[in-house]
Amino acid sequence: MDIRYSIFINKLEKQLSAYGDREGIIPVPTASIDLLIVDDEEIALKNLERIMHKEGYQVVTESSGERAFELLKVRRFDVVLTDLLLGSIDGLELMAEAKKKDAETEVIIITGHGSVDGAIEATKKGAFHYLQKPIRPDEVRSIVRQAVEKRRLARRVRDLEQKIGADFPDIIGNCPKIVSIKNLIRQISDSDANVLITGESGTGKELAARAIHQTSRRHEKRFLAVNCASLTEELLANELFGHEKDAYTGATQAKAGLLESAHEGTVFLDEVGDMSAAMQAKILRVVQEKELMRVGATTAIAVDIRIISATNKDLKALCAAGIFRQDLYFRLNVISMHLPSLSERIEDIPLLAAFFLKQSAKRAEKDIRGFSDQALSLLTTYGYPGNIRELENIIERAVALAKTELIKAEDLPHDLKDFHAFTFRRRTGNMKTLEEIEREYIQWVLGQVGHNKSEASKVLGIDRVSLYRKLKRTVFEE
Ligand SMILES: Nc1ncnc2c1ncn2[C@@H]1O[C@H](COP(=O)(O)OP(=O)(O)OP(=O)(O)O)[C@@H](O)[C@H]1O
Ligand SMILES: [Mg+2]
Repeated sequence: MDIRYSIFINKLEKQLSAYGDREGIIPVPTASIDLLIVDDEEIALKNLERIMHKEGYQVVTESSGERAFELLKVRRFDVVLTDLLLGSIDGLELMAEAKKKDAETEVIIITGHGSVDGAIEATKKGAFHYLQKPIRPDEVRSIVRQAVEKRRLARRVRDLEQKIGADFPDIIGNCPKIVSIKNLIRQISDSDANVLITGESGTGKELAARAIHQTSRRHEKRFLAVNCASLTEELLANELFGHEKDAYTGATQAKAGLLESAHEGTVFLDEVGDMSAAMQAKILRVVQEKELMRVGATTAIAVDIRIISATNKDLKALCAAGIFRQDLYFRLNVISMHLPSLSERIEDIPLLAAFFLKQSAKRAEKDIRGFSDQALSLLTTYGYPGNIRELENIIERAVALAKTELIKAEDLPHDLKDFHAFTFRRRTGNMKTLEEIEREYIQWVLGQVGHNKSEASKVLGIDRVSLYRKLKRTVFEE
């Protein structure tokens, strides 16, 4: 086995087992491996077929290069063993065709005595190995096994890479904190436990909640997002719990609430810290007893919901202050997830900016390729109090304003430029600006000449009007 492959696969296996995939390497049964042998020498062909058949592979033989070529157009093989010289079509053309159908097909080239050059050429072009006639059974067995192993590993690598990389295409970011968030989402995909997501506004709490739902066994059922701060107490109760007929004036029919409609699904309680005490008690019952009461009802209805809550407040502090129920807090916070603010993950800004640019440009039907250096520098130094949502809005605005195929500094809001200037001054805080030095020098000269401005302007080499102007600009007393 290729040592680099085995190191690589080991690494991927380790990464994957961290996500809870303990499936490891499953040996592929040889019977499921398809082998094509092509040789115009009937005896050699029969021999090879016998040896490979004994190894347990599914063997197809072909004595004509043309027919093999036609076959490779329609059928993929795991390994192809082919003679190099086959009349009008050669082994290299077969190799190209086989790899066109499936790039991971391994090809072993067989050469007659003395045609080593052609065989070396073949390996340079991607053949797995070459064998010289007369073929030794042991050798061909070993080479084919290695080729099968390489193909199996290549497939495994692809599967693992897909599992690792292609997950959560909506959650952009490679910084360690985001990678651990993605890992955590994978790790809890089998779990039904409630999750509490904390993080500043706009850090992607809802996005993470949706990803948790999507990877859970509940993904085919509803994901119901409820903003606990947006509705009045009464409306919220009515919406969430539904009501019985005649529960209040105007309730002419019984109505199921949203929580019932999310049975076997996930409920996302956004801004959970803003929930009233009465609502907290009602939700506690749902979480604890797995049942709810419609408004005006006398009997409870069983519901199976998983709750993901989110807040940008310090729920623990709210508990300590008696504003949030501690028993509910513990029930909701079985798994905690904290989303970093954008300023804690500045390395992801270019990636996120590019992602939003692509989205916005597509929506606006504009052909915008990227950012000017200056624009990118402004984007990466800004502080983003509104986090990712703010970045998203900035890019959308810039796309609307952009006149060229690049987003320029002038397409970005003033906030970014001011912030840049501010941080620059802070970074270079112990260095004086020219204006400051000029001001101090003028003051010094004035002191030396007893505050006589005519004298001072002579020393400074400027006329009195200029001196007056400078004095006005600086905030000196005249
Ligand atoms: N990692 C990310 N990759 C791509 N887009 C993201 C990412 N995180 C957040 N977003 C986008 O940023 C916006 C804000 O995200 P989201 O609504 O999930 O934040 P939030 O934490 O729930 O904010 P709030 O507390 O204000 O409700 C959304 O449009 C979301 O798609
Ligand atoms: Mg939100």
